Amino acid sequence: MMEITFRLNGEIVHAETTPTGTLLDYLRETQGLTGTKEGCNEGDCGACTVMVEDESGKRPLNACILFLPQLHGKSVTTVEGLSKGDMLHPVQSAMIEEHGSQCGFCTPGIVMSLATAHARGDTNHEDILAGNLCRCTGYAPILRAAEKAAEVPVPEGLEHTPFDAPSIVERPESSDELAAIYGLKPEATLIAGATDVGLWVTKQLRDLGDVIFLGGVADLKTITESDAGFEIGAMVPIAELIPLFKPHSASLAEMYRRFASTQVRAAATLGGNIANGSPIGDSPPPLIAAGATLTLRKGEDRRVIPLEEFFIAYGKQDRQASEFVESVMVPKAGLADLKVYKLSKRFDQDISAVCGAFNITIEDGQVAAARIAFGGMAGTPARAKTVERALIGQPWTMDTIEAALPGFKEDYTPMSDMRASAGYRLTAAQNMLKRYFAESQGLTTSVLNVKEGA
Ligand SMILES: Cc1cc2nc3c(=O)[nH]c(=O)nc-3n(C[C@H](O)[C@H](O)[C@H](O)COP(=O)(O)OP(=O)(O)OC[C@H]3O[C@@H](n4cnc5c(N)ncnc54)[C@H](O)[C@@H]3O)c2cc1C
Ligand code: FES
Ligand code: FES
Repeated sequence: MMEITFRLNGEIVHAETTPTGTLLDYLRETQGLTGTKEGCNEGDCGACTVMVEDESGKRPLNACILFLPQLHGKSVTTVEGLSKGDMLHPVQSAMIEEHGSQCGFCTPGIVMSLATAHARGDTNHEDILAGNLCRCTGYAPILRAAEKAAEVPVPEGLEHTPFDAPSIVERPESSDELAAIYGLKPEATLIAGATDVGLWVTKQLRDLGDVIFLGGVADLKTITESDAGFEIGAMVPIAELIPLFKPHSASLAEMYRRFASTQVRAAATLGGNIANGSPIGDSPPPLIAAGATLTLRKGEDRRVIPLEEFFIAYGKQDRQASEFVESVMVPKAGLADLKVYKLSKRFDQDISAVCGAFNITIEDGQVAAARIAFGGMAGTPARAKTVERALIGQPWTMDTIEAALPGFKEDYTPMSDMRASAGYRLTAAQNMLKRYFAESQGLTTSVLNVKEGA
């Protein structure tokens, strides 16, 4: 057991918890705050959304996959803490006036997502609600309520005031401290945003043994920009990558906008998205195509490897005991021609069936360089080296594209699973190359008989 300290609806609480006790269970079972609902218990439905605030601002997070120690030193507001006496929050009033609730199960989560956005001045309501599922009201009244509330000033009383929270051994505050603790406990599970690890506990009921929380490691949250590129700390949340990449690759920024939901993007980190070794993680394909490198640290030693070399085989990464992902270097030069196509069953809030990334440089009508990488086509994210070879040095024409297409069968042996069949994946990958070509010519994809949305 460990004791953690956070502010809950304005009051400081000291909670006794196991390292993987969730905020949702604590709210409902220990505090009796049952306004926060349990729907899916895996980060998908948003019924458990709460507002979490620390020095970096307010974020809406899913309480079901948030371990209590991740909240140490932060402020949490639940739906019970939103109104002040009889005075409803503007979002609550607008939801009533616009008939934004029927059975009401989703309503607390929707109110908390919208109230957090309201406080941040964010009015991109459709995007904000992509992680809040409502089965009965329909979104039109909810969106009308959001727009109405946006006209009303932010009420006072929801601000986070820093307070003293004692250090906890399992929560290092610098990467030096992390390196030392991890050196002593090589078997420990590192927990970053817990958007993967949370499900190991809530769905697989796993006992994780020793854990180390990375949320307090300030120097892993930095982004350093140079002429060469961006050195991005492992603990930078996915949400921060959208504005970072937008001026350099609108396509990459859009892919990150479609990554999960607002709540998951606010918790999930770049380091976790790479270190989990998933063959369908969205970051590796575009970052491999851009020529990114990974810095790994063990004790005082660091090594830098091309990102693609990190992924050895399904479930096996190039990471030694006590070694952690420190940062990712993304070269600016790799972003200029980069296009990413994410194909998933749902447009928003869904994991990719296939994610293709293309970084092809054309000089004087010829392919001067090509880096192509895919997720969902093999047991790891991987380059399409045969296709790349078939393109390099050739004229940038549809004939060259057609000649390169069979190379996908050499490069990949995709699986059939619940997301897509092997044949569908191969065809989709080939279509993505056609699409890249079409877009480079200013053509619409319909000219080439490529399905829109691929
Ligand atoms: C509803 C939902 C939707 C999702 N949608 C998407 C999606 O669209 N695209 C996508 O790619 N993913 C998606 N995911 C998966 C998940 O959000 C991402 O993989 C996320 O980036 C994981 O980051 P995290 O910080 O939460 O990692 P965690 O869950 O904390 O950790 C993941 C793994 O990485 C390890 N780890 C974390 N940080 C480090 C480090 N610095 N060094 C070494 N090891 C480390 C952990 O020990 C663990 O093994 C989704 C998840 C959910 C719940
Ligand atoms: S209960 Fe569905 S996201 Fe938490
Ligand atoms: S009001 Fe019933 S699920 Fe939204």
